[in-house]
Amino acid sequence: MDIIKDINRKALPKHVAIIMDGNGRWAKQKGMLRTFGHENGTKAVKRVVEASAELGIKNLTLYAFSTENWKRPKLEVETLMRLLVSSLKKEIKTLKDNRIKLCAIGSLKTLPAKVYSELLEVINATKQNSHMTLTLALSYGSREELINSVKEISIKVKNNIISPENIDESIINEHLYTQNLPDVDLLIRTSGEKRISNFLLWQIAYAELYFTNTLWPDFTKEHLYESIIEYQKRERRFGKTSEQLS
Ligand code: IPE
Ligand code: IPE
Ligand code: MG
Repeated sequence: MDIIKDINRKALPKHVAIIMDGNGRWAKQKGMLRTFGHENGTKAVKRVVEASAELGIKNLTLYAFSTENWKRPKLEVETLMRLLVSSLKKEIKTLKDNRIKLCAIGSLKTLPAKVYSELLEVINATKQNSHMTLTLALSYGSREELINSVKEISIKVKNNIISPENIDESIINEHLYTQNLPDVDLLIRTSGEKRISNFLLWQIAYAELYFTNTLWPDFTKEHLYESIIEYQKRERRFGKTSEQLS
């Protein structure tokens, strides 16, 4: 079944964000260690990045590691960091072939030095690409992002660069890690959990939410197509009535 034909290429979400969840449970179901789930999760990342670029989605943001995930067992955190470096090294060609620009959001300075330098290298090597922007949320927490933006804006107010009465949505947007990205249109979460887990709280204000029971390592291109088909069936009213839209 070729469901890709059911996608309207003229009404694609401009920004898709994914909470890639369920690696641990996927591995447990197979009687394997959680880290085995993370290894297989990277294959799903590759499939979804390629499918998004093929479709023509302009912005894809993936939640790879939250500020809260630092609380996990040391071995698991180390494995996740190691997988990050190896996938970045391995996928640089995929990024170049598909003209994908890599970006990262989060408290990047808290990443291990090796991850940080590899990340900067790939960001630098792909910065001219303009077909799609792939943003990795790494050591990312939305509340931390908002706290940082409030601090930066406060300093500018104190130094008379911004006056308080001029603070509006665009000023807030400009002080978020996501300053160059449009609002999220479609937010996907795998694994059956129905929560946001501190991801892009401001940016998903009007996103369509799509929850699926599929565990992340099982997520295929077809699952992505299904989510977009569902998105395209929704009526996005942004506060207006249905009649006003037609
Ligand atoms: C998502 O899978 C990967 C990360 C959060 C890094 P999990 O590791 O959360 O898998 P579950 O939720 O325990 O199954
Ligand atoms: C959210 O998943 C973070 C990532 C997918 C990176 P978690 O598995 O950490 O979320 P909670 O803790 O179950 O809400
Ligand atoms: Mg989880």
